[in-house]
Amino acid sequence: MNAEVRTRLNQTPEWTALAKHKEQLGEVRLRELFDADPARAGKYTLQVGDLHLDYSKHLVTDETLALLRDLAAATDVFGLRDAMFRGEKINTTEGRAVLHTALRAARDTVVEVDGENVVPAVHAVLDKMSSFSDKVRSGEWTGHTGKRIKNVVNIGIGGSDLGPAMAYEALRSFTDRELTVRFVSNVDGADLHEAIRDLDAAETLFIVASKTFTTIETITNATSARNWLLTELQADESAVAKHFVALSTNTEKVSDFGIDTANMFEFWDWVGGRYSYDSAIGLSLMIAIGPDRFREMLDGFRLVDDHFRTASPEENAPLLLGLLGIWYGNFHDAQSHAVLPYSHYLSKFTAYLQQLDMESNGKSVDRDGNPVRWQTGPVVWGTPGTNGQHAYYQLIHQGTKIIPADFIGFAEPVADLRPGLVAQHDLLMANFFAQTQALAFGKTPDEVRAEDVPEELVPHKTFQGNHPTTTILASALTPSVLGQLIALYEHKVFVQGAVWNIDSFDQWGVELGKVLAKRVEPALTEGADVPGLDASTTALVAKYRELRGR
Ligand code: F6P
Repeated sequence: MNAEVRTRLNQTPEWTALAKHKEQLGEVRLRELFDADPARAGKYTLQVGDLHLDYSKHLVTDETLALLRDLAAATDVFGLRDAMFRGEKINTTEGRAVLHTALRAARDTVVEVDGENVVPAVHAVLDKMSSFSDKVRSGEWTGHTGKRIKNVVNIGIGGSDLGPAMAYEALRSFTDRELTVRFVSNVDGADLHEAIRDLDAAETLFIVASKTFTTIETITNATSARNWLLTELQADESAVAKHFVALSTNTEKVSDFGIDTANMFEFWDWVGGRYSYDSAIGLSLMIAIGPDRFREMLDGFRLVDDHFRTASPEENAPLLLGLLGIWYGNFHDAQSHAVLPYSHYLSKFTAYLQQLDMESNGKSVDRDGNPVRWQTGPVVWGTPGTNGQHAYYQLIHQGTKIIPADFIGFAEPVADLRPGLVAQHDLLMANFFAQTQALAFGKTPDEVRAEDVPEELVPHKTFQGNHPTTTILASALTPSVLGQLIALYEHKVFVQGAVWNIDSFDQWGVELGKVLAKRVEPALTEGADVPGLDASTTALVAKYRELRGR
């Protein structure tokens, strides 16, 4: 499809056909769709690795799905997919390849960037991480005073924090419980303060994670951590080598910071920050769960990569999930997408997906810089069930908005739960199944009346239903299953960006705030005049200084 046609995505025959189809479907009801097709529940499922995906509770018919696939074909989603896997520079605004898939490629795979196979370097870093992790876990790696490392503090932000922090929580039952692993991201000093206040510096390893090694939050926290360490140990700079390692693409800046580059774990500019936790950025996770489990997680990623690369459009799960999102965002005006895991261990999963999805697809110009005239990425939100049920589910059930939601659950509770707590798992999962049922099929006024509800309360107790959900069910939350889930969402986001013709791999929208913060800071600290500062911000800064007694 040429550039001119791409900029008019919403005028293509495929788009127009979908808009017309939406009108024809009208207020299609899930109850009717299930009544009309007894095979629907079985038909609208996919199995990808360990993930069982049920998409029967969506406002779609066979025709809807076929038309959505036509849109994907017309926008050449698979063409761009293949270009990504080949290592072409599909991140055009930064002139970079997009190769997080190479991070989990098998050792003998060949993936070239600028004529060089990147896979050997990936495995060299994985091997270096493995050997370092083993040393920390076994106690062979000691701190400056000879004490064993018992605490690991990852300092990073965005993709250098959310991924390992999320995965550490998710895989807690696989972690070495003797190790304390914490994550510091916020430039608010309270974050570092709370993370280290009860730690013995002599037993603490700091992992400074930053792709660029210029991110002000991370460098500020890392500097404070180094000062704390040297003060606590009453040591000179030589102590840093045993207590600080770096994860970065920027050797020079790591060295400038004072970290021995022998203690640097490298990755590359073709790994986006939000796609990086299976690179060196995952070192804290690897120390926690061990290299073998980490590799199992990579295998899980690879399984879904292979599926995305090879499955037919009809059976391709990331394609399907991406297209369903487009169906709601572009043809039903849905503004947001909820991700609702029924696992306490996935407490940070949605926060992780927020960066993955919203930093990738929160764009309003296309690849050529033209304004897009269609909705792009949704607001992604959610927390683990069942907590959400007692907070915001009311709005999903009876509010005025359409909120497609993903429900993620597991047949088995984690292995090391006490027997009494294992029994709670069925109750958790009963909620999981009940919610998607209630959302889809609701409760009609007649059903409410049949319970002798006073007539004036009938509208209040009626559930319209028809709220679309995807159910993702797996046997257990293992490292491999986590990898499968993340890869599924990575590729879903990719599919949507490809259809919308946006660059899902840059993030220019975060830059302005960074520049302005630097400019405003002297006004806060020294009362300096900031040329061009608007009246509202000037007044707020003055108020802040007054409140701080400056
Ligand atoms: O400001 C946004 C961002 O660039 C993210 O894309 C990235 O994950 C995060 O900052 C951290 O960047 P770095 O790893 O370079 O410190």
